[in-house]
Amino acid sequence: MPEILDSYTFNNGAVAKNRLAVAPMTHWSSDPQGHATAEELAYIRPRAEGFGLFIAAATAVNAQSRAFVGEPNACTDGDIAHLKKVADTIHAGGALAILQLHHGGKETLADATEGLGVVAPSADAEKNAREITPAEIRQTIADFGAAARRAMAAGFDGVEIHGANNYLLQQFVSPHHNHRTDEYGGSLENRLRFPLAVLDSVQAACQDNPRFIIGYRLTPEEAFEDGITMTDTLALVEALARRKPQYIHISLQGFYNKARRGADENRTRLDILHEALAGTGVALIGVGGLRTPAQAIEAFRTGVVEFAAIGLGVLANPDFALRVADGDFSRIREIDLTQNAAFYQMPPKLWEKMPWFVR
Ligand SMILES: Cc1cc2nc3c(=O)[nH]c(=O)nc-3n(C[C@H](O)[C@H](O)[C@H](O)COP(=O)(O)O)c2cc1C
Repeated sequence: MPEILDSYTFNNGAVAKNRLAVAPMTHWSSDPQGHATAEELAYIRPRAEGFGLFIAAATAVNAQSRAFVGEPNACTDGDIAHLKKVADTIHAGGALAILQLHHGGKETLADATEGLGVVAPSADAEKNAREITPAEIRQTIADFGAAARRAMAAGFDGVEIHGANNYLLQQFVSPHHNHRTDEYGGSLENRLRFPLAVLDSVQAACQDNPRFIIGYRLTPEEAFEDGITMTDTLALVEALARRKPQYIHISLQGFYNKARRGADENRTRLDILHEALAGTGVALIGVGGLRTPAQAIEAFRTGVVEFAAIGLGVLANPDFALRVADGDFSRIREIDLTQNAAFYQMPPKLWEKMPWFVR
């Protein structure tokens, strides 16, 4: 059996049955209240089979945070019963259920903010975003904690704080997006203050359940000249690790991508971050371009991650993890845009987006 099928015990004692994770993927398919639909659950169910972790789609923590039509909500206690359907569906497949907690920041849909307006660390005229106020910052920190508590009440095994992909938390870390002059902007220490406060809030909200898994997903570098570098990311990772979350998940297009700036450019980002986390007890999840079981097994064998996450490979192959286990790779497929939603057991709204992702 490949080592990727070995179980993993997190630093809080929670156990994942293997090292394969479904990457968080937005499906645009919740109802207008942000509640799970039958087609969303039908899409999740087969894909939770055989995976150790299933990280559910980016889910809004408050009315100011929705960046997608059909985004799931964890904004009020009324959402708990609906979130429970997602957790139950994942558990029926056998994976641990992790809910990704999300705030879109300047990428939020203005129409979805219930009149509150789009907020970002600093105003951005192009995005029609205004500067988030200190009171809203404090409220948002509390809202992440409340959303985590709702995920716990709904039966999820953990939450992943979405600090990646250009959304609010990353916008705070980024000198490109964050031009604040208060304690949340300027120095690196100040730029990390908000994301770290979010982690603190989530940990405090979940402290009654010591086996609850808390992860943090981040994008390690930005392409902008004044964007996030590996130097910033290493500082963030060190500060996160000091708080002993269960894992850190690096959002990458390519698992083997090398550092661009602020660290050894001859080494992969994951190799560098693996070294940074050595001895901390915090697991590292890597992702990016692992489209076949063979590629996932090979990536895991590099030894730089505790989990390999799979995105498009799971969209194309709902039975991806089962094929890793039985070694039959003969029917593994890629997304073929001449096919249709039903062929891949995907909600139609998710299928409509495939041309954006498959090039
Ligand atoms: C349809 C789709 C939706 C995605 N939605 C999210 C999301 O909600 N949250 C997130 O952190 N990443 C999201 N991603 C990024 C994936 O988690 C993953 O990092 C990326 O697809 C690279 O992995 P892959 O090459 O295995 O697909 C999404 C990707 C796809 C294809």
